[in-house]
Amino acid sequence: MRFSSNFIVLVSVFLLSVSWATPTPTATLQSFKQCLSFNSRISVPSSSFYTPYNPSSFSRILNSTAQNLRYLEPSKPKPEFIFTPLSEPQVQAAVICCKILGIHLRVRSGGHDYEGLSYVSGIETPFVIVDLANLRSITVNIQKNNAWVQAGATVGEVYYRIAQKSKVHGFPAGLCTSLGIGGHITGGAYGSMMRKYGLGVDNVLDARIVDANGRILDRAAMGEDLFWAIRGGGGASFGVILAWKIKLVPVPETVTVFTVTKSLEQGATKILYRWQQVADKLDENLFIRVIIQTSAGQNGTRTVTTSYNALFLGGANRLLRVMKKSFPELGLSRKDCIETSWINSVLYIAGYPSNITAEFLLQGKPLLPKVYFKAKSDFVKEPIPEAALEGIWKSFLQEDIPLTIWTPYGGMMSRISESATPFPHRKGTLFKIQYVTAWVDGEKSEKKHINWMRKLYKYMAPYVSQSPREAYVNYRDLELGMNKKRSTSYSQAKVWGEKYFKDNFNRLVRVKTIFDPENFFRHEQSIPPLRFYR
Ligand SMILES: Cc1cc2nc3c(=O)[nH]c(=O)nc-3n(C[C@H](O)[C@H](O)[C@H](O)COP(=O)(O)OP(=O)(O)OC[C@H]3O[C@@H](n4cnc5c(N)ncnc54)[C@H](O)[C@@H]3O)c2cc1C
Ligand SMILES: *[C@@H]1O[C@H](CO)[C@@H](O)[C@H](O)[C@H]1NC(C)=O
Ligand SMILES: *[C@@H]1O[C@H](CO)[C@@H](O)[C@H](O)[C@H]1NC(C)=O
Ligand SMILES: *[C@@H]1O[C@H](CO)[C@@H](O)[C@H](O)[C@H]1NC(C)=O
Repeated sequence: MRFSSNFIVLVSVFLLSVSWATPTPTATLQSFKQCLSFNSRISVPSSSFYTPYNPSSFSRILNSTAQNLRYLEPSKPKPEFIFTPLSEPQVQAAVICCKILGIHLRVRSGGHDYEGLSYVSGIETPFVIVDLANLRSITVNIQKNNAWVQAGATVGEVYYRIAQKSKVHGFPAGLCTSLGIGGHITGGAYGSMMRKYGLGVDNVLDARIVDANGRILDRAAMGEDLFWAIRGGGGASFGVILAWKIKLVPVPETVTVFTVTKSLEQGATKILYRWQQVADKLDENLFIRVIIQTSAGQNGTRTVTTSYNALFLGGANRLLRVMKKSFPELGLSRKDCIETSWINSVLYIAGYPSNITAEFLLQGKPLLPKVYFKAKSDFVKEPIPEAALEGIWKSFLQEDIPLTIWTPYGGMMSRISESATPFPHRKGTLFKIQYVTAWVDGEKSEKKHINWMRKLYKYMAPYVSQSPREAYVNYRDLELGMNKKRSTSYSQAKVWGEKYFKDNFNRLVRVKTIFDPENFFRHEQSIPPLRFYR
């Protein structure tokens, strides 16, 4: 749908009557509301707008889904207002009006962005947030084996709605149940069924988006280039995803989960070395990730613990046979195994206590209290030697709340070609590393923790992918580089673009240049169009 000529005329008349001299937050909101009322047939209730003039409701909405406390600090730029649309045409109208009025837009679905890109603009102010939290309908069609899911729904709600209709269907996306499906799928979306079925993006059938021209397009209307780009090219570079149509995958009625923990004193280093050799080659029904933390050791000294946290798409007896053959070093026993339904395995892997029922997923809430954090990622192509693991332990014992999660690849991940979607980390990857450091005392200790993270990242360089040193775009890391305010350069963006997308970066730039040449959808690490003048 193009703007109607009536609409353009109305807006032009209206623009002439707006004074641009001293834009205040209220002036921006007033212009925006007036523009919306021209474009939206349905009137937008004023309860859909939040401004700093009502600090408590503003801060409640701003904070609601934001995951990283670093980006909620008073020192961080705040939006002029937050708009929470109630319908897809309202999102469309918001895009059109931001474009016409020259308002910088941030879109938020689930608020889990590591660098707060969905609710803070560090390089460009003023800005506004369009928060899709009210757009969360989920329509599951078991006969057709698919579901339409609006962007503001959490992955936990999606899993719940699927499980409500069938015990033998699931969807292979993230482990953390409060992720917004809107932003999550834009970057890949991995979870505990990735070795069997690939990523969320590998199981998307269709999408509805608002493009930079304010049109609502589905797959047929947007064409295969744009449909390719939105499935892994990262959030907020190509348009606003309104909804994804996802393909459901079969899951057995009974699955098995376990968590086995080994500390340094229990031979963690040797077992982890072994895991690196087998994790990507195991039966594809088996996903064993390793969660590495520090804890108080048995005699009071701090130690490093490695927790093998697993999902097996099958029963415990078969799992025990697979483990005995492929990874006996872990010493898995029958009493470690919990047989359960797929939906309960979701709760287990997400770390919920066993008395929490699946209905909790409908609340869309994260499991843990929010913290300040910084994270980075790496991809590993060859096992990291034991001596190098010792260096990681040494580093961990120097940090307050360090965490690293190692996620196995192989299986379906290595059968999908690097260029099938923008997500390029496929064949040849043994596992992915995520490093996290968290703290609770605000900005004052930020520098110390970030320095620790940088040092560990530097230490890891020889053991991980090189040229480029790959990174996962859903683990946004602005230390890899940033666009400059109001100007982007292909060669600058290529520095981080190749880390996230390898050769797919070039195709992403071509798609961006065709569909958003004026760079309306932009942020610190958005895909730049070629030849952009402003
Ligand atoms: C605790 C935690 C656990 C995680 N676990 C996993 C995991 O298991 N697997 C995994 O793959 N990733 C995981 N992630 C990373 C997660 O996939 C990304 O942070 C993802 O971008 C979150 O999507 P969101 O909608 O919640 O975030 P948001 O912060 O809302 O959005 C992220 C980015 O996408 C843009 N965006 C949001 N909505 C839209 C939309 N509708 N259309 C276009 N652009 C949009 C935003 O502007 C922003 O740039 C985890 C993150 C956290 C914080
Ligand atoms: C929102 O978060 C900020 C920063 O953590 C905090 O100061 C503020 O009180 C929070 N607001 C609400 C309503 O919880
Ligand atoms: C106590 O802990 C340290 C460090 O983990 C370890 O080297 C030592 O062997 C432990 N001693 C006993 C008695 O367990
Ligand atoms: C689950 O158990 C914990 C204690 O183990 C308790 O604090 C909590 O209230 C329980 N939750 C529910 C939903 O029963």
